[in-house]
Amino acid sequence: MFSSFSLLFFFVLLFSTTITQPYKATDVFFVDCGSSDPFNSSSDNKWGGDEHSRFVPSNARSISFSSTPDYLDASVARTPFSTARVFKRSSFTYTFPVSQGPKFLRLHFYPATYSNLIPEKSFFSVSSNGYSLLTNFSAFLAASFLTNSPFNARLGGPQVYTFVKEFLIYVKDTQILNVTFTPSHKSFAFINGIEIVSMPENLYFNKAKIPKPVGMVNGPVIDNNIALENMYRLNMGGPQIYGNIDTEIMYRSWYQDNDYLYGNATGVTPYYLNPIMYTIETPNYTAPELVYRTQRSMGKKPESWIFWIFPVDVGFYYMLRLHFCNIIPQYKKSGQTLFKIFFNTQEIEEEADLFYWTQGTGYPVYRDYVVFVDDLDGSQSKHYFRLSLHPNTKSEAYLDAFLNGLEVFKLSMDRSLASPNPELISTNTPTVKTNKKKTKLVAIISGIGGALVLLSLLVLVVFWQRRRVKHLGSIDSTLPLDRCRRFSLREVKAATDEFNDDFVIGNGGFGKVYRGYMDRATTIVAIKRLNSSSTQGFQEFITEIGLLSRLRHVQLVSLIGYCDDEGEMILVYDYMAHGTLREHLYKTNKPPLSWRRRLDICIGAAKGLHYLHTGAKRAIIHRDIKSTNILLDENWVAKVSDFGLSKLGPRDQGQDHVSTLVKGSIGYVDPQYYRSKQLTDRSDVYSFGVVLLEVLCARPVRVLGLPKEQVSLAAWGKFCYLKGTLHEIIDPELSGVIAPECLRQFGMLAVSCLNDESSERPGMDEVVWGLEFALELQELADKTIVEAANTIADDTVIGSIPLRDTTTSISSGYEEVKSE
Ligand SMILES: *[C@@H]1O[C@H](CO)[C@@H](O)[C@H](O)[C@H]1NC(C)=O
Ligand SMILES: *[C@@H]1O[C@H](CO)[C@@H](O)[C@H](O)[C@H]1NC(C)=O
Ligand SMILES: *[C@@H]1O[C@H](CO)[C@@H](O)[C@H](O)[C@H]1NC(C)=O
Ligand SMILES: *[C@@H]1O[C@H](CO)[C@@H](O)[C@H](O)[C@H]1NC(C)=O
Ligand SMILES: *[C@@H]1O[C@H](CO)[C@@H](O)[C@H](O)[C@H]1NC(C)=O
Ligand SMILES: *[C@@H]1O[C@H](CO)[C@@H](O)[C@H](O)[C@H]1NC(C)=O
Repeated sequence: MFSSFSLLFFFVLLFSTTITQPYKATDVFFVDCGSSDPFNSSSDNKWGGDEHSRFVPSNARSISFSSTPDYLDASVARTPFSTARVFKRSSFTYTFPVSQGPKFLRLHFYPATYSNLIPEKSFFSVSSNGYSLLTNFSAFLAASFLTNSPFNARLGGPQVYTFVKEFLIYVKDTQILNVTFTPSHKSFAFINGIEIVSMPENLYFNKAKIPKPVGMVNGPVIDNNIALENMYRLNMGGPQIYGNIDTEIMYRSWYQDNDYLYGNATGVTPYYLNPIMYTIETPNYTAPELVYRTQRSMGKKPESWIFWIFPVDVGFYYMLRLHFCNIIPQYKKSGQTLFKIFFNTQEIEEEADLFYWTQGTGYPVYRDYVVFVDDLDGSQSKHYFRLSLHPNTKSEAYLDAFLNGLEVFKLSMDRSLASPNPELISTNTPTVKTNKKKTKLVAIISGIGGALVLLSLLVLVVFWQRRRVKHLGSIDSTLPLDRCRRFSLREVKAATDEFNDDFVIGNGGFGKVYRGYMDRATTIVAIKRLNSSSTQGFQEFITEIGLLSRLRHVQLVSLIGYCDDEGEMILVYDYMAHGTLREHLYKTNKPPLSWRRRLDICIGAAKGLHYLHTGAKRAIIHRDIKSTNILLDENWVAKVSDFGLSKLGPRDQGQDHVSTLVKGSIGYVDPQYYRSKQLTDRSDVYSFGVVLLEVLCARPVRVLGLPKEQVSLAAWGKFCYLKGTLHEIIDPELSGVIAPECLRQFGMLAVSCLNDESSERPGMDEVVWGLEFALELQELADKTIVEAANTIADDTVIGSIPLRDTTTSISSGYEEVKSE
């Protein structure tokens, strides 16, 4: 029995080596939801309406609306977007009779206003054959995310109106594929189009071919019990391939990689004209020829890298499928070009060798990896992962690296693929523009079949697309992010005299901060350059651009722009002439600040923080409030800076915290947050209370070597306030200057900010008010106080006050603990 089995196996193998098995999808449904147009096999339009169709039970209660998206160019197919089926209140199931085996299920959405139902109000769940695909899903928020994410915006991408979600489901012997839409409470669901296409048995669901686990010992096996969602499908270095039967037998769309691409050597290999040699391991349905004919490469540049950044949902396993093809004729044997592949900082291949993998030019191959994207900080939001390529210096001939295509799939966990909706990104989006170039291309490609025309078009596309990449580096590119300018590396280098150390004004865990002169030296800026070997800074870079490009407030540092040329991550800010608040308080040779100025600075910073907490739709929690993150401009206006650790507050009105890993700086971190890992806006209030004591006492927040009770400024300040001895620990510069009533008010406010119980702490609005009151008390007292005190408090004569003798200062000799 065994031998007959192996004989059969042998026969099958032999058979399939000689004839490449063609694949023809057995189940193909294109359902134009809400439409009553019949399916018409003799027409080019593959879509047919669901009205009265066999997929919908005749007693179904649902309403269909017609809508004509006005943005669509006449040359673009309107189906399935000109109609929708809308479900109010009850759930609704489409039932498709299909054969056993894996299927693509593609859901097409156009979040438009249907009659009086606005898309912002639509939340619903979708399930299929026992898998939860989407829960409480908002197509409106999803489209807004696609439009406003930096990955679309940085290249000035078009507004996203319609999108497709692709799921891969294995239909068992029930031979039914059910798709159920359930509106959330008091909401409605809608769907514009449903596409079902079968796929070859072992293309993605292959128990025998286990993806290489990255960062874990055993990864999940992709068998019939897992459902997948396609997150990305990219044709590296090539044009978009539309899900069209002429080019793509399973109607998959392959997008350009430009939007996700970074790095300092992002070239393309010349378009490959010879046939792609499909094999048994890589049959022709794996990916279209166009994917393998085009390739990102580095153009033999040592010490360079290419990387791509992708937003994904946290808490899931992902399968990455990397497509390669050796399309460089000069590259003739193994060992000539080796390269490394990294997922984030993890090496997934050390010696990728296309020649060794494919045994010749023109043979395609793919490699599967599985990774887990952890919810590192409990935010349940998007995570940005990075796939990067570096040449391996062991290469014998060329230092280069290549990638032809990439697919990223999310794997179901406990039969669910659902993730929370993305945040609503404030939509100052410019008015709608359709990308005419793109849309015309579809029409031409689908209209004319001729290979020659297609080829010359491709040359055009590649050219156009190259121009687009080039445009990334041009000097005066328009603001890709809302009100935020993109600088070229050349400009940044010119501004800092090639990152001359003489220009360094700060240094942190992330890298250096330089002073720079922009726009023919007319504008002074601060330039923060992320050190590429600092891995933690990357997520923070993204957070900072994301937040600061949307926030504008006189009490927040303004982001002028950024530079992401050649793999650099550089942020450009307004220059703050007077530096940090800390450097005017202690361990400094700068003149001490007057009490009046200190109060103004505290009020300003408190207003900035108040704006962060309440100015946007969802609170923003800074998480790293400290005296070095409060900057002072030339007019001594305080500005809150450094939003790298900032977090969005809770989504739910009813909830007051987000759960997250504890981050921040030692001495400033809210102890309740530290214990519970639950972050609230009152955690910033605590840190701000510490800053108030720093301003008052002019000493570091933690000084080892002092008697135990004095080590922590927060604890010591509280203790002295309660004992009534606060005046004994204040900055000697201030003694005799602060009115006792003002000190009492200020001390009380600081100590209430430091309350152990976060719910007992004031909100930032109360802090602002409390500080303003302290200022009033001071002014009132000053009116009755001698001239001399007034002179010291007068800002204009501060320069003439002798420098503080640091040996007598209370902070002398203290060693501050490094908090980073
Ligand atoms: C794949 O190969 C088969 C057999 O050689 C052929 O019939 C089919 O047209 C090819 N499909 C594509 C998309 O090239
Ligand atoms: C089907 O499409 C063809 C070609 O577009 C058209 O001539 C024919 O009238 C259509 N049939 C129906 C029933 O709509
Ligand atoms: C599909 O849905 C029908 C009706 O809700 C249900 O009876 C059937 O069990 C479902 N089939 C599968 C495979 O989920
Ligand atoms: C790419 O960046 C790295 C690190 O900054 C640098 O060493 C290398 O020379 C750069 N390569 C090119 C081609 O600019
Ligand atoms: C659904 O999502 C929205 C937006 O993300 C949220 O405001 C709402 O509370 C969620 N509803 C449920 C029931 O989870
Ligand atoms: C980047 O950081 C590494 C290690 O932290 C350090 O050795 C290197 O000098 C830094 N480079 C720059 C340009 O600051």
